[in-house]
Amino acid sequence: MAERGLAPGLRYFPGHFDRPAQEALVAAIRQVVAEAPLFVPRMPRTGKPMSVRMTNCGPLGWVTDKAGGYRYQPAHPETGRPWPAIPDALLALWNEASGFEKPPEACLVNFYDPDARMGLHQDRDETEFAAPVVSVSLGDQCLFRVGGVSRSDPTRSFRLASGDVFVFGGESRLIFHGVDRIYPGTSTLLKNAGRINLTLRRVNP
Ligand code: SIN
Ligand code: FE2
Repeated sequence: MAERGLAPGLRYFPGHFDRPAQEALVAAIRQVVAEAPLFVPRMPRTGKPMSVRMTNCGPLGWVTDKAGGYRYQPAHPETGRPWPAIPDALLALWNEASGFEKPPEACLVNFYDPDARMGLHQDRDETEFAAPVVSVSLGDQCLFRVGGVSRSDPTRSFRLASGDVFVFGGESRLIFHGVDRIYPGTSTLLKNAGRINLTLRRVNP
């Protein structure tokens, strides 16, 4: 994998997936969405909807709603059915990029419409922080912001493009990160404007 070194534990692989591999991933994700429809996640306590729509694949999926807050659970919040399996190409990516002996348990699928964003946050609903989070971008480019492990740490921004892989592990496992904006019309991969982000996570030790 062609790697661009950043802070310790933070790794960026621009263009890791070529166009045919990106198309195969989109086809696999469409099948996931057919079985596990996109839902609107809601913030804990306020119930305010997030601007992304989500689904998951894997034994566990990340969900959030007003009453239950952020959590992982084995079933889709609306259908009650187990999440579909993680596509093989993503399991292969995990083996290549994670350096973690056990497989990922969750793959969160985020759909960004052109006006969707994601505020700066840490991924900390897992109990296993020795495994990294492995992130794949598909479709339109986005402005991705990463900071440090404190919210007040300085941030830097990357313009992530379709096929890019980003890994945050080690000392960077709990860094703040977010998506400031989508650049519609910067990719022809998806039928409509927007971006898909896939994050592979190990939840339990
Ligand atoms: C996330 O933090 O869950 C998504 C990050 C991204 O969309 O690149
Ligand atoms: Fe995140």
